[in-house]
Amino acid sequence: MTRSDPQTRHHRLRPLQIRRARKEDREAIWQIFRAVVARGDTYVFDPNISRRKALAYWLGPKTRCYVALSDQGIVGSYILKANQPGLGSHVANAGFMVSPSARGRGIGRAMAEHCLREARRLSFRAMQFNFVVATNRAALRLWENLGFKIVGKLPGAFRHSRRGFVDVYIMYRRLKAPYNSR
Ligand SMILES: CC(C)(COP(=O)(O)OP(=O)(O)OC[C@H]1O[C@@H](n2cnc3c(N)ncnc32)[C@H](O)[C@@H]1OP(=O)(O)O)[C@@H](O)C(=O)NCCC(=O)NCCS
Repeated sequence: MTRSDPQTRHHRLRPLQIRRARKEDREAIWQIFRAVVARGDTYVFDPNISRRKALAYWLGPKTRCYVALSDQGIVGSYILKANQPGLGSHVANAGFMVSPSARGRGIGRAMAEHCLREARRLSFRAMQFNFVVATNRAALRLWENLGFKIVGKLPGAFRHSRRGFVDVYIMYRRLKAPYNSR
């Protein structure tokens, strides 16, 4: 079945819960991470990255990691952190991964909405995505629908596993009034 199939389009698999990741979630997170990066079409990570390196990145000390659970178990994970240290730390950065078997059913959108709420709760003033691959239609559509704007284009900055060098977008969205209002 394809995405355009009406049955698929309308089968929204809302996650039952989105919560902070726990130690026992590591294997499920790794399985999703491995499946996503192996395709070499959305993230810069080595498609053959080791479990240790992947988890060290996704569960890093300055990163908040969350998982989305449906009745199928963990179907997605996202991370939220400051995009820069110090004087740039009021801008958040986030990364999202949905299990290939659970795509197109609203998990990504639910995690993104949760992430924006969390970022506001943690007093971030804006959110920046540093590396949105221009061919990643699902991500682009989702971020634009959630109010992110393309603020920059990096020509040929991603070496796509099948399409070769493709552009990358930097996307940005304010969460609060921009200047000097506290
Ligand atoms: C991007 C990603 C997180 C989206 O998660 P998802 O659960 O598949 O997305 P959803 O079902 O919530 O759909 C989100 C939006 O994208 C659109 N979309 C989803 N798949 C799409 C596709 N293949 N083509 C075009 N649009 C698509 C949906 O129409 C939806 O828009 P809507 O909410 O306005 O209807 C997921 O595809 C993923 O993990 N991709 C690999 C990793 C990645 O690209 N991460 C983001 C890096 S910037």
